[in-house]
Amino acid sequence: MTEHPSISMLGHVTLSTPDIEKSLWFFRDVLGMEEVGRDGKRAYLRAYQEWEHHSLVLVDSNVAELEQVALRTSKAEDVELYARHLHANGVEYVEIPKGDKLGQGDAIRFFMPHGGHPIEIFYDIEKPQAPEGLRSRLLNQSSTRRGLGVRRIDHANLHTATEEVGAAEEWLVRNLGFKRREAFQIPDGPLMASWTSVTPQVHDIALVANPENKVGAFHHVAFNLENFADSLTAADILRDLNIQIDLGPGKHGIGNAMYLYVRDPGSGHRIELYAGGYLIFSPDHEPAMWTPETFGDGLTWYGEPTPLDPSAKFSQTTNSTKKLI
Ligand SMILES: [Fe+2]
Repeated sequence: MTEHPSISMLGHVTLSTPDIEKSLWFFRDVLGMEEVGRDGKRAYLRAYQEWEHHSLVLVDSNVAELEQVALRTSKAEDVELYARHLHANGVEYVEIPKGDKLGQGDAIRFFMPHGGHPIEIFYDIEKPQAPEGLRSRLLNQSSTRRGLGVRRIDHANLHTATEEVGAAEEWLVRNLGFKRREAFQIPDGPLMASWTSVTPQVHDIALVANPENKVGAFHHVAFNLENFADSLTAADILRDLNIQIDLGPGKHGIGNAMYLYVRDPGSGHRIELYAGGYLIFSPDHEPAMWTPETFGDGLTWYGEPTPLDPSAKFSQTTNSTKKLI
């Protein structure tokens, strides 16, 4: 049997921020992530149930952009296999040597065809022990639960132009092995959104039509909370800290999860605190297909309705960086 490369999980996102100290305060001190290390302009963070060196990389910059969505392969040799696959299919990529990101091995980077987002593929990553003061007595988590208690990265929501969503989804499915789990399709019209995953989650990556028809736009990254009560507690605390809440808490029909969208005060990047949801184990699971008639329930099952107006604050996206290095 020929060995095919595969993606195992969403590894991390790299976000640039014009105020890295304020962003660190938000992710580390408020959300409760561990600052694992720093090198030059970058800070590396992980949540308390994560063992990999980082699930979020913050980059000191004068702009707030998505620098990479990084996907971890299933095996070390898959990085090289994907490089060959991209080359054979005419997708340009660059090789990123081990150590370019702290704790991380060799990687490749390219722009996702049709999506336009900078994607990084890697496998090797260190799994350092947390320092004594943060380490949990529980053997199954890397550190103690702190702050609002985000426990792991959950998914990334990427926007592209309406006419590209279908092709971008197809590229993810055919080339990286993502599965469509839920989607919003206009009858006889374009695919407007797709929730895709390589794990039992409903989505590791969501691809959504951008109301302004921008390619390569970044809407949000989500971090997972244990339960709905944590979302309500988070809202209470974030309100008191005067941190901008874009939407929620409420519940999406899509994914069946509670949402709370907030802004990192250092960068303005939108962050979703995500709780609940269902998991998919069936190998022949049929995706849930939303239509214009049902999509309202899909976006908002209860809570403040999700606005679709392109001028609404919630629809605004940040850009992806245009460079791979
Ligand atoms: Fe989301």
